[in-house]
Amino acid sequence: MFQKIRYQLLLSYLLVLATILGVFTFVVRIAFYRSLTNQLTKTLTFIGQSAIVNAHYDKNFKDVKIQIDRKFPEKDFLAADQALQWFNPQGDLVAQQGKGNAFLTLPFSANEPVQSQEEKVQGVTLPIIVNNDRKLIGYVRVSQSLEDIDQSLNKLDWGLGGGICIALLLSGVSGILLTRQAMKPIEEGFQRFKQFTTDASHELRSPLMAIKINATVALKYIEGMRETDVKKFQSIASATNQMIRLTEDLLFLARYDKIPTQNWDTVNLTVILDNLLQLYKLQAEAKQINLQSELIQNLYLLGDSVQLTRLFTNLIENAINYTSNEGLVEIKASQIGSQIYVKVRDTGVGIALENIDKVFDRFWRAEQSRSYHLGGSGLGLAIAQAIAESHGGLITVTSQLNVGSCFTVRLSASTAPLELKIKT
Ligand SMILES: Nc1ncnc2c1ncn2[C@@H]1O[C@H](COP(=O)(O)OP(=O)(O)OP(=O)(O)O)[C@@H](O)[C@H]1O
Ligand SMILES: [Mg+2]
Repeated sequence: MFQKIRYQLLLSYLLVLATILGVFTFVVRIAFYRSLTNQLTKTLTFIGQSAIVNAHYDKNFKDVKIQIDRKFPEKDFLAADQALQWFNPQGDLVAQQGKGNAFLTLPFSANEPVQSQEEKVQGVTLPIIVNNDRKLIGYVRVSQSLEDIDQSLNKLDWGLGGGICIALLLSGVSGILLTRQAMKPIEEGFQRFKQFTTDASHELRSPLMAIKINATVALKYIEGMRETDVKKFQSIASATNQMIRLTEDLLFLARYDKIPTQNWDTVNLTVILDNLLQLYKLQAEAKQINLQSELIQNLYLLGDSVQLTRLFTNLIENAINYTSNEGLVEIKASQIGSQIYVKVRDTGVGIALENIDKVFDRFWRAEQSRSYHLGGSGLGLAIAQAIAESHGGLITVTSQLNVGSCFTVRLSASTAPLELKIKT
């Protein structure tokens, strides 16, 4: 049980940490990328401004035109992964300089900076304005390959990814130690509580047995006894029985995770259910309850027949106890693939939707249960669940108030015992 809680704690802790680190990485990556592209925009703007100032323009009597001559010192401006493109005011390309992989092939647009993710190039376009009359004679677009930025981002990704992995690994290791440490006092407290329940139940058994024996003996010789005294002894015997059952149930629950599996054998579940049907036939008849069954023959499973009998006793007893006179209790057993399904269905008082989750809690009883079954302690279903789980199975319940309930037990089937296989 604690192992499971430990794993769940560790898993949630790592999940939260991974989410925080993931968000952190995402934010850092975006911030880093923005800072790199902003820096690039500034550099390209600076190069563009320098190019505009240093270029020579062709002047005729009316117009000034972009005419880049061969003496233009492009190497002074451009790095290996940068390029210059000159456009006339209409946006037509007039000239270009630089390396092939740095050119933007996107159509001209004065609204820059622009990025082409396919070509991995970023560009900045600046207007060229000459003369004192501030006349626009064209544009220059400076572009640079984004390969450097990509490489930097790649390095950052590897760094952050590696960092996250190492952080998760270290957190996982420290998490295991921390959860072990944190759970230690809880585990010890739980063990002490279990030991106390075991000891108390054990110690209570002997005096309770003594009371029960004395009350039973007294009730054997009732001649000369006052009627009121007889009633007192009867209620002492009944209360003692109830307490003995309660202590046995508590003892079982305190020890249930230690149910030895080495004594398990191949059990014929159909036989167990058949026997129980015979046993509860009279009780059902007394309440005029129609007890029906539909059992597949020879349902074999590996387990403890005494515990399995106890499991189904609790379910059948509940079905009869919580069903009013002339109701129906139906027991169905079937096998689908490797799983055995036993359904105990009744048309009884049912369980309210808000209480469905509580039925397997120890000592929980619905308000109206006392009027149906006086002596109950609310441990029957907790025991049934413990037995099913210790056999690797599961109990589920569906119910509707005042309509009825259906408890389904799922258990793993096994093959028939060897001696039976040889006979057939
Ligand atoms: N078949 C059922 N129909 C309606 N309510 C049920 C049914 N089975 C269980 N319950 C509800 O769940 C509660 C817990 O059941 P559980 O068997 O654990 O305890 P109990 O029957 O009260 O006492 P006992 O320890 O004697 O079994 C019951 O008190 C009852 O309110
Ligand atoms: Mg019960």
